Amino acid sequence: MKLYNVRKKSSAISCAGVMEKVEILRSTLRWANNLERPEIQKLLNQCNTLRDEVMQLSHKERFIEASAQRQPEKSESEAQRRQALLERSFVFEGVFGENPKLLAALEIAEKAAPTDLPVLIDGESGTGKELMAKVIHANGSRADMPLISVNCGAIPDSLLESELFGHKKGAFTGASSDRKGKFESAHQGTIFLDEIGELPLQSQVKLLRVLQSNEIQRVGSDQALEVDARVVAATNKNLRQLSQQGAFREDLFYRLSVIQVTVPPLRERKDELPLLVDYFCTEAAERLNRTPLTFSKSLEAYLRNYEYPGNIRELRNIIYRLSCLADATADIVHLPEEIRPSAAATKQLAFMTDTDSGSLADIKKSASDQAEKQYLESGLREVNGKVIELARRIDMNRSHLQTLLKKHGLNSKDFRKSVTLP
Ligand SMILES: Nc1ncnc2c1ncn2[C@@H]1O[C@H](COP(=O)(O)OP(=O)(O)O)[C@@H](O)[C@H]1O
Ligand SMILES: [Mg+2]
Repeated sequence: MKLYNVRKKSSAISCAGVMEKVEILRSTLRWANNLERPEIQKLLNQCNTLRDEVMQLSHKERFIEASAQRQPEKSESEAQRRQALLERSFVFEGVFGENPKLLAALEIAEKAAPTDLPVLIDGESGTGKELMAKVIHANGSRADMPLISVNCGAIPDSLLESELFGHKKGAFTGASSDRKGKFESAHQGTIFLDEIGELPLQSQVKLLRVLQSNEIQRVGSDQALEVDARVVAATNKNLRQLSQQGAFREDLFYRLSVIQVTVPPLRERKDELPLLVDYFCTEAAERLNRTPLTFSKSLEAYLRNYEYPGNIRELRNIIYRLSCLADATADIVHLPEEIRPSAAATKQLAFMTDTDSGSLADIKKSASDQAEKQYLESGLREVNGKVIELARRIDMNRSHLQTLLKKHGLNSKDFRKSVTLP
């Protein structure tokens, strides 16, 4: 029975189908100890069929991934790439700067968004994977349809299938009425399968079947319902590795990861830190109805050097905490206790920031060195490289002058005009 009018078979299905066949071929070859001629012929035939299928895919389908992974042109600067994204009305509910790793991820997301291809987002916890899923949904053709999130790690195994696919009244104890699952709710929209690496193996089989057929069966029902949900999954695990260890189905991995987007950890994009801090300070000030925070020098140094194991989520929490606890200026004491540096480390930070302010002295010194060098160079030119003459003119001890010349790497011979013989 068809519950819905399913849209035209999408490119996701054809492309993912081909991917899966490639996978089957790969595993056949990988596990083969020795192959007889007829088996080789059979595999060759399968390869030929596959090639024909690929050739039948549209240009767009064949090249979408290649173009999504395209390296940006060398001549394009990060600032231009960022600007270009913004000018293309790219929807992003946060901030981003010119970090090349994040820009690359956003460019892939932007290319993938209008297709129905499955996307796998990977990255450490708190890096913005869920935000990235929203970006993919918001920039695609399904933007005004629902985006339904399921956290596969937060639902007990026994309830997961009912949550995903729904259930029929009486399917199990407690199933007092028919219930729609998340896939049905995401019909014509996007389903976001968060923490997909936590999905138990038996649910993986069922999910794979759904992805292959675009049909679901509510738990306890044998009726197939067609659903058309674009799948975006996220994980903080290395799914490829898990699948090699047998903890995640390889065929499901390949089906989900037609396009893979990696969100870099905050420590690899510290250049975005000032932007993010500013963003969260303003956001927190609005929420808490206060003026935006300012930071003591030590705290600023601490936040700049901290490694943020919890990534952007941790940074956001820290800024909210500071905005709540501090008056006008936030300091080290306002940090959560578990990350607050020891008294000794705080002293060290204060020392570091002192040397920071001492850097003005450094700037002065280097400017005066520069002036001294220029003075000596022009003097040497005037006296035609004669050090004794220069020492006399500027009234300086000769050996002191030699020391200064050495310090600046100046060689008096270089200032002697070449003598042309008559
Ligand atoms: N570039 C960004 N700009 C603003 N906020 C961001 C950005 N990236 C992540 N965040 C915020 O950081 C928090 C964690 O992001 P989330 O997408 O939940 O991470 P993950 O799913 O990887 O654990 C969220 O509050 C999110 O809105
Ligand atoms: Mg998350």
